[in-house]
Amino acid sequence: MGRKFFVGGNWKCNGTTDQVDKIVKILNEGQVPSTDVVEVVVSPPYVFLPVVKSQLRPEFQVAAQNCWVKKGGAFTGEVSAEMLVNLGVPWVILGHSERRSLLEESNEFVGDKVAYALSQGLKVIACVGEMLEQRESGSTMDVVAAQTKAIAERIKDWTNVVVAYEPVWAIGTGKVATPAQAQEVHAGLRKWLATNVSTEVAESTRIIYGGSVTGGNCKELAAQPDVDGFLVGGASLKPEFIDIICSAT
Ligand code: G3P
Repeated sequence: MGRKFFVGGNWKCNGTTDQVDKIVKILNEGQVPSTDVVEVVVSPPYVFLPVVKSQLRPEFQVAAQNCWVKKGGAFTGEVSAEMLVNLGVPWVILGHSERRSLLEESNEFVGDKVAYALSQGLKVIACVGEMLEQRESGSTMDVVAAQTKAIAERIKDWTNVVVAYEPVWAIGTGKVATPAQAQEVHAGLRKWLATNVSTEVAESTRIIYGGSVTGGNCKELAAQPDVDGFLVGGASLKPEFIDIICSAT
């Protein structure tokens, strides 16, 4: 397969200057596999991006947790893709379920954001995932396929896209998907890409799992053939994030 393992740390809306110093120290001192084995991307809130980027070990990269859908201008409070590029921030997380639900970001809006971010030279972690009631009604694949389709309709080049499958019912709940559940959806997403984009894109695109990943459950998940890494929330603020990076296979 040859897909490099990818571990993202999504700090979400967390951190003080003291906490950032502590987390960066943990990251900089952690014993981790080489960049040949694993790609690590840390995503602090906007306000800490420059300082984390300046202090983080050079082999780790940073990501923004969002960016605006078009060129900057009269959009109070927004941060543009151009600003992130100007700061030397290489990655951006888009379509996180918290933004899809709390800020009502539609599939089409997320697709437009992914297309614009890529057009400006950013690399994108594109999030998809179903709600509990959608899983219980058996519509998981329909939901994540529709979310992925809205992206596929707007981009041609998947080189700089990582897809993050984050079942909403597993985010922040401690109810991690079983390895079988994760593998089933990851394989379904890869099949969708093969059918609707190309076999090359399906084979090369990393599909990572997010939702209550910990140092204790990451190994079993990482052993699944279509799990290419993780997008970690709560545990990315703790020393166990190093253990999760070391689960790279
Ligand atoms: O983006 C990653 C995040 O949604 C997962 O959160 O705390 O369940 O690892 P958590």
